Amino acid sequence: MSLVIARPKSAEFGVAPVPETKSISRLRAAAQTCRACPLWKNATCAVFGEGPNSAKLIFVGEQPGDKEDRAGHPFVGPAGHLLDRALEAAGVDRDDCYITNAVKHFKWTPQGKRRLHAKPSAREVAACRPWFAAEMKAIAPRLVVCLGSTASQQVLGKPIKVTQARGEKLDSEFGVPALITVHPSSLLRAMGQPDAEEQFGRFVADLKRLRG
Ligand code: URA
Repeated sequence: MSLVIARPKSAEFGVAPVPETKSISRLRAAAQTCRACPLWKNATCAVFGEGPNSAKLIFVGEQPGDKEDRAGHPFVGPAGHLLDRALEAAGVDRDDCYITNAVKHFKWTPQGKRRLHAKPSAREVAACRPWFAAEMKAIAPRLVVCLGSTASQQVLGKPIKVTQARGEKLDSEFGVPALITVHPSSLLRAMGQPDAEEQFGRFVADLKRLRG
């Protein structure tokens, strides 16, 4: 009988190679070499945050989707288009904001030719935290907007129920208040339902709190 020795799962996790810098382009380049969790293996690239260094607001999503993974930019797929629409309706200029994700690599499972989004584990979120911490240090925003539960977990350092905390400004692990709201993907999933417009309106109302 042959002996199969399974590699311990923890061997797939390591330390994120975050350089000591406030340069987003240097951080972005270094993130391409990150092997702190196994997600790099099936992703095209690490999708780092984008936006001006002077941004007062950071938006945090969950992780890049299929389109973002191919393009190398955050929120450029369907969820990004919905976010753009909501930001415009709320009078918030995306170009003034820094947009990033809690996890920088796309986690997916195959379904035929499609790559289906898979939720990152708490361990994968934690492995990516040093990158988010570096973005927070570089941008030093006034407020972080958490889009959904994975973003909230990254920013607050603990899981919360978005439905309960929605609209609240909570203390983040980074000394900057965090506004909790839903992820635009939840609105995409609601499309076609009778309350889809109402849900979109609630999201816009959350974003309107960011003006000024
Ligand atoms: N969903 C996210 O959370 N982030 C993206 O960049 C795209 C979709």
